[in-house]
Amino acid sequence: MSEQKTVTFIITRQDDTNSASYQEEFEVPYRPNLNVIAALMEIRRNPVNKKGEKTTPIAWDMNCLEEVCGACSMVINGRPRQSCSAIVDQLEQPIRLEPMKTFPVVRDLQIDRSRMFDSLKKVKAWIPIDGTYDLGAGPRMPEVKRQWAYELSKCMTCGVCLESCPNVNSKSSFIGPAPLSQVRLFNAHPTGAMNKAERLETIMGDGGLANCGNAQNCVQACPKGIPLTTSIAALNRDTAIQSFKNFFGSDKV
Ligand code: SF4
Ligand code: FES
Repeated sequence: MSEQKTVTFIITRQDDTNSASYQEEFEVPYRPNLNVIAALMEIRRNPVNKKGEKTTPIAWDMNCLEEVCGACSMVINGRPRQSCSAIVDQLEQPIRLEPMKTFPVVRDLQIDRSRMFDSLKKVKAWIPIDGTYDLGAGPRMPEVKRQWAYELSKCMTCGVCLESCPNVNSKSSFIGPAPLSQVRLFNAHPTGAMNKAERLETIMGDGGLANCGNAQNCVQACPKGIPLTTSIAALNRDTAIQSFKNFFGSDKV
């Protein structure tokens, strides 16, 4: 009888935010098209490490399982990406799983992405339409603009661009590429443009555009192919114009 094929994982674990990390090795039965999340589920079903010792189940986040929500991001074989779309057959073994280091670890591979969500709040990454009555249909956008804005709207706040940026870390207040690109998206919308000056002034301040070192890792790492460096270049132009307006005391539009 032939021996069952297995997949080896080396997983960086951590019991809570402040405890030290350690590595634990696991062996999971192989099956075609196995992805990293399915392997983690297998370990959770039977939490026994490679030495045969009973251990605690691995903690990680997931939601959509189809690379849409961004929750399952982790560092796989040294590269930040989504674990739901990481196919074991395409990975070198042993497969190393680590939490993204830009964000605090909650437990094991589960991280706290609040830093990114707080930045989205800071730059008002939304269109203010709250009210007590129906505002009717919104203004139309030119098709050419709608097309590039749609590309920016694909951001799933996965955090991979922040993880790959050398200027986003625990010692820096840089908000990072994703929130910057969302400023461009919401400023492009005819209704969102009402807060354009406010958003631009926010990114002209602490933690904003000036912290970008133009490393360009973000645009290569983004799983959604979002043109992050194009957004940053466009915002550099927009903030320069905003500075002139501020200097000459013109309006805030
Ligand atoms: S811009 Fe791309 S890499 Fe960055 S958070 Fe959004 S989807 Fe993820
Ligand atoms: S579970 Fe949603 S992106 Fe992976």
